[in-house]
Amino acid sequence: QEAPSARVGLVDWFFGASGIGGKRASFTVAVLGAAGGIGQTLSAFIKANPKVAELRLYDVAPVVRGVAADVSHVNTRAKVSGYVGDDELEACLRGCDLVIIPAGVPRKPGMSRDDLFGVNAGIVRTLCEGVAKTCPNAIVNIISNPVNSTVPIAAEVFKNHGCYDARKLLGVTHLDVMRAKTFVAAAKGFDDPTLVDVPVIGGHAGTTILPLLSQTTPRCSFTPEEVSALTSRIQNGGTEVVEAKGGAGSATLSMAAAAAEFADACLRGLSGESGIWACAYVESKATRAPFFATKVLLGRNGVERVAGTGTLSSYEKRALESMLPELEASIKKGINFLHS
Ligand code: NAD
Ligand code: LMR
Repeated sequence: QEAPSARVGLVDWFFGASGIGGKRASFTVAVLGAAGGIGQTLSAFIKANPKVAELRLYDVAPVVRGVAADVSHVNTRAKVSGYVGDDELEACLRGCDLVIIPAGVPRKPGMSRDDLFGVNAGIVRTLCEGVAKTCPNAIVNIISNPVNSTVPIAAEVFKNHGCYDARKLLGVTHLDVMRAKTFVAAAKGFDDPTLVDVPVIGGHAGTTILPLLSQTTPRCSFTPEEVSALTSRIQNGGTEVVEAKGGAGSATLSMAAAAAEFADACLRGLSGESGIWACAYVESKATRAPFFATKVLLGRNGVERVAGTGTLSSYEKRALESMLPELEASIKKGINFLHS
């Protein structure tokens, strides 16, 4: 007797039953830096997204062709191809709707994210020049650190090419949100971290990462000691992983999951779904810093609305005021890089 067909699909697992045989895949997504720690896992996650028709994997490391061959065997709709080096960047980017950039070096113990500027600033500039020339209307998700500076670098590149659209450039800070959900759920005994919401605002480095615990839902209260300990753990989540990996890199697996979830939110917005809010580091008027992470509403043009910070506790007000000079300096450093 024949066994009934089993519902064991990867798509079903990640995206629910609506992904199986659901809306036809329609988007072309590129991952730049796809042979790296984040890039490989992220590519596998994106391959499982039923909204993706084509997945283009680019890296300067030739092994990316093997990564593409590997990922292509996953039985989902997306067609996968690999691209190596400058000569193939344009072919990779042609017609892309979403470009995700995790290219660049990661931290080792003792380093700050800003210590990566010297190498990663140039990488982000080159890749964004490719985007500007080839797919200037694509949504761009920047993961490469230091995000506080690499997003302003990307903005300057697009301005230089006359194609800057603030709605389409997003620094990925979603890992901070994932960490906040996980750590708060553990501290407060919530069984399911996916149901916890904690906005994380500011930037993506040290004290510029500011979780708004006072706005946590489900509503719960925190003692001053809990606020201080949880804020510090969320701010230092990246360093916790860097130290635990002992010199072998920084967060890759959780980052890939965060980037995949964030990319899905961008694609849902592009598809016309309503009410898709996520935290991201974008051009903003929420504070005096020209780039700032808050919740943003994602839609057909990328960022349709940038939320304010909402009502802050006095602890959060103080933390915001004291982080702004560092954030502003990192933004200036990114902008100046293009003019030096
Ligand atoms: P990795 O070294 O494992 O991978 C980086 C990849 O980038 C490599 O495959 C490398 O060949 C590739 N690369 C280098 N120069 C390139 C170029 N010019 N064009 C295309 N590809 C190029 O590093 P990783 O662990 O994947 O981290 C990548 C970056 O992401 C780091 O800067 C890291 O700090 C950052 N990161 C950001 C977050 C965040 O929350 N935004 C989280 C984790 C890591
Ligand atoms: C993270 O937050 O994990 C990343 O920014 C990587 C790092 O260097 O900490």
